[in-house]
Amino acid sequence: MLGEYKPAVVSFHFGLPSAELLARVRSWGSKILSSATTVEEALWLEAHGADAVIAQGLEAGGHRGIFLSEDVNSQVGTFALLPQVVRAVKIPVIAAGGIAGAGGVAAAMALGAAGAQVGTAYLLCPEATTSAVHRAALKSEAARRTMLTNLFTGRPARGIVNRIMRELGPISAVAPAFPLATSAMGPLRAASERRGSGDFSPMWAGQNVTGCKEIPAADLTRQLAARV
Ligand SMILES: Cc1cc2nc3c(=O)[nH]c(=O)nc-3n(C[C@H](O)[C@H](O)[C@H](O)COP(=O)(O)O)c2cc1C
Repeated sequence: MLGEYKPAVVSFHFGLPSAELLARVRSWGSKILSSATTVEEALWLEAHGADAVIAQGLEAGGHRGIFLSEDVNSQVGTFALLPQVVRAVKIPVIAAGGIAGAGGVAAAMALGAAGAQVGTAYLLCPEATTSAVHRAALKSEAARRTMLTNLFTGRPARGIVNRIMRELGPISAVAPAFPLATSAMGPLRAASERRGSGDFSPMWAGQNVTGCKEIPAADLTRQLAARV
């Protein structure tokens, strides 16, 4: 599918695909990025052909890019991980996790990042397909409490704590393997959202939602880059 578009950048999560697939991506001239959650993962990505590495700190919303270990206790905060990755690899390092404003971007650059990757702050932008229950949760005090959970997809991801996370986990050994948990939870999620409830929905968010603004993504990007 990507071969039809030949994008300038292809960014992976959960490591990298097989060497043959990666060679195909490279043959189009695409730059290859992937997330590292530890120094070991950053070194592995560099050795296996990444052009730049995203240092994804524990604060980040959504899925952990963790791929060399299953132990989420091994995960490191952004501003502890970033300078160690910068020191360990020769390729550019992009900082991710908890960065929500121009100050956070500038701090990441001061620690050696070549760029910053921001996810959570964009979730209220009109362009985002964030669901109604997710938007409401992001705007509420509930958004201050996020946890890593495997209940919604089978892999650990950070989201706003809701009923199913409280009652089953948030990390459960009986969650179906990735990505099967998504369809297992689907009917419950759909029925619940029809009633306006996010009790069974993944509501991905990082530990810092203070940057979420209901403004166009381009304007938010300009604000984030104001001190670069
Ligand atoms: C709703 C949501 C969906 C995400 N989906 C992906 C994804 O598909 N692929 C990916 O590499 N990272 C994904 N991420 C993770 C981000 O790339 C990034 O690591 C993270 O958002 C940075 O931390 P922050 O959320 O605190 O800004 C997602 C994050 C969020 C919040």
